[in-house]
Amino acid sequence: MKNKKAYYGIHLLLIAGVFVFSVGCKNNIEKKGSKEIAATEISAEEQLYRPNFHFTPKANWMNDPNGMFYFNGTYHLYYQYYPDGNVWGPMHWGHATSTNMIAWEEEPIAIYPDDLGLIFSGSAVVDVNNTSGFGKDGIVPIVAMYTYHNMKGEQAGDLDFQTQAIAYSLDEGMTWVKYDKNPVIPNSGIKDFRDPKVIWDVDHSKWIMTLAAGDKVLFYSSLNLREWILESSFGAAFGQHDGMWECPDLFPIKVSGQDETKWVLLVSINPAAPNGGSGTQYFVGDFDGQKFTLDTDFKQQLQQDRAVWLDYGRDNYAGVTWSNIPKKDGRKLFIGWMSNWEYARDVPTETWRSAMTIPRELKLKKNEKEFVLSSAPVSELSKYVSKTIVKETLTVNNQKTIITQSEIDLSRVRIQLEMNHLKSDKYDFTFQNSFGDRLSFGIDNIKKQYYLNRQNSGKVTFSDKFANTISKAPIKNPSNMLKIGVLVDKTSIEVFYNDGETIMTEIFFPNEPFEAFSINTSDAALILENIKIEEFQLN
Ligand code: FRU
Repeated sequence: MKNKKAYYGIHLLLIAGVFVFSVGCKNNIEKKGSKEIAATEISAEEQLYRPNFHFTPKANWMNDPNGMFYFNGTYHLYYQYYPDGNVWGPMHWGHATSTNMIAWEEEPIAIYPDDLGLIFSGSAVVDVNNTSGFGKDGIVPIVAMYTYHNMKGEQAGDLDFQTQAIAYSLDEGMTWVKYDKNPVIPNSGIKDFRDPKVIWDVDHSKWIMTLAAGDKVLFYSSLNLREWILESSFGAAFGQHDGMWECPDLFPIKVSGQDETKWVLLVSINPAAPNGGSGTQYFVGDFDGQKFTLDTDFKQQLQQDRAVWLDYGRDNYAGVTWSNIPKKDGRKLFIGWMSNWEYARDVPTETWRSAMTIPRELKLKKNEKEFVLSSAPVSELSKYVSKTIVKETLTVNNQKTIITQSEIDLSRVRIQLEMNHLKSDKYDFTFQNSFGDRLSFGIDNIKKQYYLNRQNSGKVTFSDKFANTISKAPIKNPSNMLKIGVLVDKTSIEVFYNDGETIMTEIFFPNEPFEAFSINTSDAALILENIKIEEFQLN
């Protein structure tokens, strides 16, 4: 989508059409007296496509995760939500809660659009010391910061139609009061000016907010969450720029196994991801309370590759981290929107559209001079393991079925295995069903690439952008050992290579559930080791 703003505009125009269309559809169904057929269709869609362990709203459109915070034992997840249709429309903040980030309860809509605009993406913080003064009678206020997108301004051709605003909650995020002096950051004429992500900067004792501004990010600081000072900008000269910068996130993170702490800046970009459409790049550096400076080793990495990517699959976008995770936990917890603006509105589910990734723990590792931001599913997922199959070794003579649907449900599964004597060869793992659908991933150890191929994975023709390519990721540190972890739900696959140093997340829509998982290779001496296959049961 070249011009995202025009995109939003077009979507709003489409809403009227969608409304007429959906009324029309309802009438048709009623005329045919076929409410039952509609019900069967819905139930078929539920059965085949409603994820088993990934968050989806019960109905209608969802995009970016927003405002995630943890408080009093509950993880909160808000999200861009259009409650009246299954394509993008006037944005609200939907809301879901969980005690473990895996089993979610959908809550009433949290924030509604108003005269100042639609409620675009943003973040929320727990204002423990009541710096904002919104707290009353000892109640800790939760403060959300979001972007107002003013449609009238956009349609009038103004440049200042996106502004930043705040709202607070005195009931732990369930209901919100918008600040009466909104917007707190007006727009001085930057057309794409959105997605504020606020953190408490412990080192500098102030709130820091990162905002996307077209081809860069801006950093602001505040002592009270109401008044903001522009500190600096970053990025115009670094990273991928063939698209719009959106949904940034800046946070400190310890380098694994070292004493050092670095700052990571996540920046989503649309289009121009490595395999097309929407994706998330990251930068590693230092932050002095005002300015973000790239680490010199990371700068070298950027000289080799234009950008460094969080996930090479096509469906992990606009992801950011949770705030207020207790110090004794200390994890950086992330969730992304598991779709891509290239086809999000066309995916073949009617009741709801799109899901979130599995929540992930981010770790910053340094291999020699190279930084890697790795992701792994949060450990809480293991609470839901209902069945485990372990195979110490499996000898593969070119082709082997590793597991079948009769042994474990392949639509709610994690498969982990190791390969310790890789040759210069191809290793192709495939999920398939008797319908002929195939979803493959693996390693091309000749080209030194990982890949994920959904070209024949079932329903793919709903958009010509969905299966036009096979996604690829470079193997940066070739070795003869490889660890693979794969999470498969009914409509998503998340492949974590070498403890999540390279990740590929994609969605797919098979005609029938997959029935077998197998490997193909011309390496005649392959042995798969430490195979562990787990099935998840949420209810
Ligand atoms: C990212 C994004 C954000 C914006 C929101 C609107 O997917 O374009 O920049 O705030 O979606 O729904």
